[in-house]
Amino acid sequence: MMKELKKLVFATNNQHKLEEARAITAGKFELLSLADIDCHDDIPETAPTLEGNALIKARWIHDRYGFDCFADDTGLMVDALGGEPGVMSARYAGPGHDSEANMKKLLRNLEGQTDRKAHFSTCVALILDGKEYLFEGRVDGTIADTPAGENGFGYDPIFIADETGRRFAEMSADEKNEISHRGRAMRKLSEFLAD
Ligand code: IMP
Repeated sequence: MMKELKKLVFATNNQHKLEEARAITAGKFELLSLADIDCHDDIPETAPTLEGNALIKARWIHDRYGFDCFADDTGLMVDALGGEPGVMSARYAGPGHDSEANMKKLLRNLEGQTDRKAHFSTCVALILDGKEYLFEGRVDGTIADTPAGENGFGYDPIFIADETGRRFAEMSADEKNEISHRGRAMRKLSEFLAD
């Protein structure tokens, strides 16, 4: 008989993230999405930090639905803008605006600025057997003057990774995953879950 795997919810509706995480946890956990547990809640992400927002999401699922769970939150921090857009990365240009508008606003705010240093950070919050754990991943780079490249999403066309000298949007998914904030945080989670 097949061994029954422990169920673990990934508090996301993003299919791409889910596939990535399923590959990482295969054989160890049965990974469920929010849709799988019939959760269609609009979970409020109101904390001022990535850690805070990741914990809000993980606790929401754990407390209301009773599952072990993990959740992630990511931000792009630009040095010359005092860490903006940070936790506001998804909504930088205001509600209802897309990545294009967010990038435009960022480039406008950096016009004439020579310090282009920035980093992406991802925080993953895990609640397992009633205990909370945090995992972080970071990638350093600079903000380009103009967008380029076809791959990825969000700010990828303007983020040049220090380690490759190329924009994320000019790298393959595997290449990006190797060094990315989320790749690093997810691998830390995966190593922890493997123990
Ligand atoms: P989330 O917490 O993963 O939803 O990320 C918040 C926002 O950060 C997204 O809406 C994107 O604008 C941006 N972001 C997150 N990860 C990436 C990435 O890998 N490349 C570019 N932008 C990203």
